Amino acid sequence: MTVQPQLSTEILNENTKGKFIVFEGIDGAGKSTQIALLEKRLKSEGITVVTTAEPTPTAMGGLIRDALSGASPKSSCELAAMFLSDRISHNISPIYGIQRLINDGTYVICDRYYYSSFAYQGLDTDIDWVMDINLNCPQILKPDVCIFLDLDPSQSARRLGDSRAFLEIFEKTDTLEKIRSRFFDVFRLLGERENIRIVDASQSIEDVAQEVYRNIF
Ligand code: TYD
Repeated sequence: MTVQPQLSTEILNENTKGKFIVFEGIDGAGKSTQIALLEKRLKSEGITVVTTAEPTPTAMGGLIRDALSGASPKSSCELAAMFLSDRISHNISPIYGIQRLINDGTYVICDRYYYSSFAYQGLDTDIDWVMDINLNCPQILKPDVCIFLDLDPSQSARRLGDSRAFLEIFEKTDTLEKIRSRFFDVFRLLGERENIRIVDASQSIEDVAQEVYRNIF
């Protein structure tokens, strides 16, 4: 009788775990297009993929959208706390929660995550506090990789202007400039603690997709 070597549960879980991939970038950087292309490519390789986004389509996500549209203005601290609450539910929900999906072996691709809170809410309030409540929250998972699609704000503003009749509060060109440079401040502050990959989003759609894919594995 041959005795099969036993894999420890830990190794087995590590090997069967999915991946948590986050896309970030200023508004209009092309996240939706690149997320769709990555999802298609991974699925064609037989990988189970779920795409998701923040703010989420929940009641809290709805309140956040009302604030972003200007319909129901909120302070930066209030917004940071609302995004935090939305993110915790996004992680732990037994139905759509990121953590369960990843433990089940799914690749989760998320359009925006806590890096956006650092860049957007950190612009008008204490960034250390925003980072602290997110990074030290035991129910918020750290992504395996964050792909930052980097695009010049004048180009992204042009893309947004072409496709939207009404712009949200953060979508004006001068604000986009500030947010882009804030993202870079955030990445410097995070240093080696997070796996951040900066991709030049001014290249052709195919070239960006290729570079994104190379950075996932
Ligand atoms: P939305 O139009 O849903 O998507 P996108 O611009 O990413 O295609 O906009 C989401 C907005 O929410 C965007 O302007 C950034 C903002 N945001 C924050 O301010 N803080 C956060 O933590 C997150 C996740 C998003």
